[in-house]
Amino acid sequence: MAETKEAISSLAADKAIVKQYLDSAELPPELDNADQQYYIVSIKDLLLEKNAALVAHYYTDAILQDLAESTGGLVGDSLEMARFGRDCEADTLMVAGVRFMGESAKILSPEKTVLMPTLDATCSLDIACPIEQFSSFCDAHPDRTIVVYANTSAVVKARSDWVVTSSIALEVVEHLNAQGEKIIWAPDRHLGAYIQKQTGADILLWDAACIVHEEFKARGLQAMRKVYPDAAILAHPEAPDSVLEMADVIGSTTQIINAAKTLDNVSFIVATDQGIFHKMQQVAPDKEFIIAPTAGEDATCRSCAHCPWMAMNALKNTYQSLLYGSNEIRIDTTLREKAMLPLQRMLHFVAENKLKVKGKA
Ligand code: 13P
Ligand code: SF4
Repeated sequence: MAETKEAISSLAADKAIVKQYLDSAELPPELDNADQQYYIVSIKDLLLEKNAALVAHYYTDAILQDLAESTGGLVGDSLEMARFGRDCEADTLMVAGVRFMGESAKILSPEKTVLMPTLDATCSLDIACPIEQFSSFCDAHPDRTIVVYANTSAVVKARSDWVVTSSIALEVVEHLNAQGEKIIWAPDRHLGAYIQKQTGADILLWDAACIVHEEFKARGLQAMRKVYPDAAILAHPEAPDSVLEMADVIGSTTQIINAAKTLDNVSFIVATDQGIFHKMQQVAPDKEFIIAPTAGEDATCRSCAHCPWMAMNALKNTYQSLLYGSNEIRIDTTLREKAMLPLQRMLHFVAENKLKVKGKA
């Protein structure tokens, strides 16, 4: 049973800060077919020339996902991106995603050059977990094990005992709970509450949310379920509890894709970023995917159910970054070494427990 819930940051204040980031985020212009082809061919050449691998998240543009796979790179969830980056033999990693993904790659592979299409692609969870407040929060509870979501800055990771992604968070907290450890969880309060509910662990929650997943609404979902009574509901655990309660499968992006493939249902209502539909349609071409409804007066999504920062990754900025070596991720060595420990702890846990994270739904 959970002891207490503490909210350290004000969600309203977070939303105002997040809005500032959103207002300054520049979305890439649409390209015509000829330009697209030019950049695709040029990126392929540059990847070869620089012995570079393109590592993309499922929420990025379908063209980048296809390019990653067709050039021997990877499209995956946060955990797979981190593992692939660490294990592949490229000299350069081009990480198409949001900043914490590039930072995790650099933390785990200091010898590699890590580039990103843009360094402005952030995450509302990262923004809402500033190190000063987070560190004071941890200092106030020295008896607790600090578990942070991968969607955090390197400096927050360095302050933690464990880093986890959505695909492994539940197992890690189950393991810690079985050892009687009390936990601080940050930053995503929905994922934290979900883990708390599933494990019964004693968890203090940080109060931040993903601006994309937070917008999924249970009321709209109930109405949609009546229209598609045979559809399975698949949800990312960053969605609110009222949405998760209605879900048939709750999991990371890879786990959601896997469920689309393995469940017998022919239609699915999906509560996560719609960039994932590209891969879902590839793995289950005969099935139907419907985006879960988003609504709400104070909706902060620029485009509903699509991460505005993931959307900043495009062909042109990928090409420019590879060509000029721009947008390189650099992390101070002392910080990197500290941040590496909790990340490695997660990767060792996955390996030691032989968890088939990739195939798990
Ligand atoms: P996954 O690790 O499930 O891909 O999630 C990353 C993320 O940012 C979801 O919003
Ligand atoms: Fe962050 Fe949400 Fe975007 Fe994922 S979808 S990167 S959690 S803002």
